[in-house]
Amino acid sequence: MAEVITLGIESSCDETSAAVAVNGRKILSNVIASSLDLHRQYGGVVPEIASRKHLEFIIPVIDSAIKEAGIEPSRIDAIGVTYGPGLVGGLLVGLMAAKGLAFSLGKPLVGVHHLEGHIAANFPENPGLEPPFTALVASGGHSHIVLVEDYGKYKIVGRTRDDAAGEAYDKCARELGLGYPGGPVIDRTAKNGDPHAFDFPRTRFKDSYDFSFSGIKTAVLNCVNRMRMKGEEIPVADVCASFQHAVCSVLCDNTFKAARANGTDTVVLAGGVAANSCLRAMFEKTAASRKMKFYRPSPVLCTDNGAMIACAAYYAFLNGRVSGDNLNAAASLSLEDI
Ligand code: KG4
Ligand code: ZN
Repeated sequence: MAEVITLGIESSCDETSAAVAVNGRKILSNVIASSLDLHRQYGGVVPEIASRKHLEFIIPVIDSAIKEAGIEPSRIDAIGVTYGPGLVGGLLVGLMAAKGLAFSLGKPLVGVHHLEGHIAANFPENPGLEPPFTALVASGGHSHIVLVEDYGKYKIVGRTRDDAAGEAYDKCARELGLGYPGGPVIDRTAKNGDPHAFDFPRTRFKDSYDFSFSGIKTAVLNCVNRMRMKGEEIPVADVCASFQHAVCSVLCDNTFKAARANGTDTVVLAGGVAANSCLRAMFEKTAASRKMKFYRPSPVLCTDNGAMIACAAYYAFLNGRVSGDNLNAAASLSLEDI
């Protein structure tokens, strides 16, 4: 089959990104501009600042992605764009740019769900990966176990009932004074700590693969506050390692249980938390011991990027999922509703 070239645009949070991919598997360019540094002092993403930065970055980022790919804009077959879920101001900037480009080039517009993008980030580096498989999608806003029945066909079989895993990382890091975002710094700090120093709660539900991370977050905050009030020195590395071990154990156990129950022998990681070294090691070990296949994207493809949107857009386009010019941004949007 002829090569299908997709442009992917992502602007749902604090990364403005555009990328060009061939047949959903080969990345020709992946340009990412982030406003993260501007949000650090506030301890989280400030939507208004993110929107302004998206406006500033979007056209140069798209231009660079097309130039770096070494293609003429007319070679693009479809334009994929994240239309939800996410911060509505940011989504609108990406969406308007995508619509303008689709209209001016006379190319189809493909609305992509942010989480299907995260899942598709596994395709370029893992040519052997084909559905069906089970994906753990863990980011700052979501923690889902998704059964990917086919390209573009998703069934959520487990989800968090309160905080997302990335959110728990971010909140614990803030309490420990480690800054924002919490995931990467806890990951690094935990390397020097004892994962069994503290026995933090691992919430599990009977007959369900759902998660809950608000209990462990509160337990960490209480533990740290107690030590502070007693004037004790906080063993930050031990707290990080114990917190991380508890969170990753639950993520890993539930995902492999769900995979087995759904009859899939392949498990993948996706989303910002998928960059976590402890989570990756646990999944690798569990998959090997159960003789299952395990795939994960390299860290740059775990956090938000345009390449994952370009790859997801390819499969959506093949399935005939073309959006009208009335496509709107959706701050909340279920993966099962696309
Ligand atoms: O997917 P993403 O870039 O944005 C959202 O869609 O939310 O994920 C961001 C989240 C943040 O909560 C961040 O702390 C977390 O991913 N994260 C990590 C790591 N790198 C990023 N969490 C744990 N370990 C990491 N190495
Ligand atoms: Zn994301």
